[in-house]
Amino acid sequence: MSYNGFQFYDNETNFEKYMERRAWKENANDTLEKPVVRELLGEVSGKKILDLGCGDAKFAKELFDLGCENYIGIEGSTNMIELATESLEGLNGAVIQATMEDWEYPESSFDLVISRLALHYIEDIDGLFKKIHQTLKPNGVIVFSIEHPVITSTLQTSGTRTSWTVDNYFIEGFREQQWLGGTVHKYHRSIEGYYRALQGAGFTVENLRESTPHREHFENEETYERRLRIPLFLFLSAKKTT
Ligand SMILES: C[S@@+](CC[C@H](N)C(=O)[O-])C[C@H]1O[C@@H](n2cnc3c(N)ncnc32)[C@H](O)[C@@H]1O
Repeated sequence: MSYNGFQFYDNETNFEKYMERRAWKENANDTLEKPVVRELLGEVSGKKILDLGCGDAKFAKELFDLGCENYIGIEGSTNMIELATESLEGLNGAVIQATMEDWEYPESSFDLVISRLALHYIEDIDGLFKKIHQTLKPNGVIVFSIEHPVITSTLQTSGTRTSWTVDNYFIEGFREQQWLGGTVHKYHRSIEGYYRALQGAGFTVENLRESTPHREHFENEETYERRLRIPLFLFLSAKKTT
């Protein structure tokens, strides 16, 4: 069975394996992804934040510790929404079960939109960036991480990975991945593709990062050296200037 982005996490076996992996010591999310996201977010104090594909929304607690005023998480998976609802208990925020594509985005409402490792599940990125642009207040910012295009370009449309070779890099679109024992749909886009989609929606791109490993985030020298080999994640931040 092959799943789209959020349905994948509602298959119990996939979900268990994903949560197990996230709990690993020195997992890639905590050692490579989160430090860059934190840096790109800058000051969050007093901000209204929208988190697209928020997963278990554990990150909300960290945002409130940093002074965020309000948090809304959008999440498609029922399993994730259950965890996210617990994470938000007692905090000034909410999680909503909806897809990023179909949610009705309120106009000029957020200071910051974040999305961590979820936008590579989206087919129409141009349409989504336009919705994000209109839901941000003037000078509002989007910060997101995705699987690095070098990685998504190794995936095939058939779900069968034949090698880790970068291939068909400039052919954007549907790819299938066998991951954690299940099969999931992803969308490959070039770095330029993401950059242009942001510009096309009216954003000014401010930062581009590639999850460069930093030794201080790793206890284990071997893991650090392994992470120096391949870029796992790409990050972009952009401002609503028009
Ligand atoms: C890799 S997880 C990341 C979760 C969280 N952002 C984090 O970093 O811990 C991707 C999340 O995006 C959600 N997702 C995927 N496609 C979605 C869509 N179209 N609409 C809403 N959520 C989606 C999945 O259900 C999953 O919880």
